Amino acid sequence: MKLAVFGATGRMGLAIARLAHESGDIQLVGAICAGSDPNLGRDIGELAGVGTIGVVTGADVPSGLLGADVVIDFSTAKAVVPLLDAAKKQKVAVVSGTTNLGEVERAALTAAASKVAVVWAPNMSRGVQVLAEVVAHAVKRLGLDFDVEIVETHHRRKVDAPSGTALRLARAVHDARPGLSETYGRQGEVGARPDDEMAVVALRGGDVIGDHVVHLFGPGERLELIHRATNRDLFARGAIAAARQIVGRGPGLYELSDVL
Ligand SMILES: NC(=O)c1ccc[n+]([C@@H]2O[C@H](COP(=O)([O-])OP(=O)(O)OC[C@H]3O[C@@H](n4cnc5c(N)ncnc54)[C@H](OP(=O)(O)O)[C@@H]3O)[C@@H](O)[C@H]2O)c1
Repeated sequence: MKLAVFGATGRMGLAIARLAHESGDIQLVGAICAGSDPNLGRDIGELAGVGTIGVVTGADVPSGLLGADVVIDFSTAKAVVPLLDAAKKQKVAVVSGTTNLGEVERAALTAAASKVAVVWAPNMSRGVQVLAEVVAHAVKRLGLDFDVEIVETHHRRKVDAPSGTALRLARAVHDARPGLSETYGRQGEVGARPDDEMAVVALRGGDVIGDHVVHLFGPGERLELIHRATNRDLFARGAIAAARQIVGRGPGLYELSDVL
């Protein structure tokens, strides 16, 4: 598999580069970073701590995608549209884990998926996929007596809130129990909790990679369904596994559950 990495010098991009190199059967062919990046023009292997591999970081997207079967993207929302446009034109499959996408970025994902295989997932771990299924099951089985609230915790440098994973879990709750309204915090004299409310709350601090807790509060008992990421490689491995699965697939917007 010939792989390009977008957001190559970020925390996730470097993990992808390192694991791809260590895999032995993935050839890294492109490493795309922001034009303002101080690491522009550096060997991506050196940056990722695996030694020189002969692929230098560049900011030109079409050149970075040359020869790639698939590109893995962990960048920022505002960077993904040019990537998706280029991948669509150059027929390069896309695995994107970038969160906080708005309507424009989602439309670009759909447009790219009309020409190439695209996977987008706010959390690339199999554990979170299973958690979402467990949450939907629990919400259905416990019924309307139970109040649902979601708390996520991430490192102090995370730029978006709530996390894409918290929103993914909220979607699982909505699918199982339609009609809930979301709130992102409470302050002041807000009154008693309405039955149809669900808070999604973000904590930020330190170097927490990502914790998600779905609370189900019932009369006289409560459940807490928890996922804790303890190593960023977890997401990188999921993205690489997804990339292996979509190379050679036809155009379409795939869910992680379709490919893992
Ligand atoms: N789906 C998942 O499983 C998962 C897991 C972890 C993280 N994420 C998401 O993945 C994204 C990245 O996370 P991270 O922790 O790796 O963040 P990060 O360390 O900030 O990395 C993002 C990288 O993208 C770069 N970038 C910005 N604009 C670019 C452009 N136009 N072209 C190419 N690269 C560009 C940034 O460069 P500058 O710093 O120079 O701007 C930075 O190096 C976030 O949205 C995060 O929420 C998803």
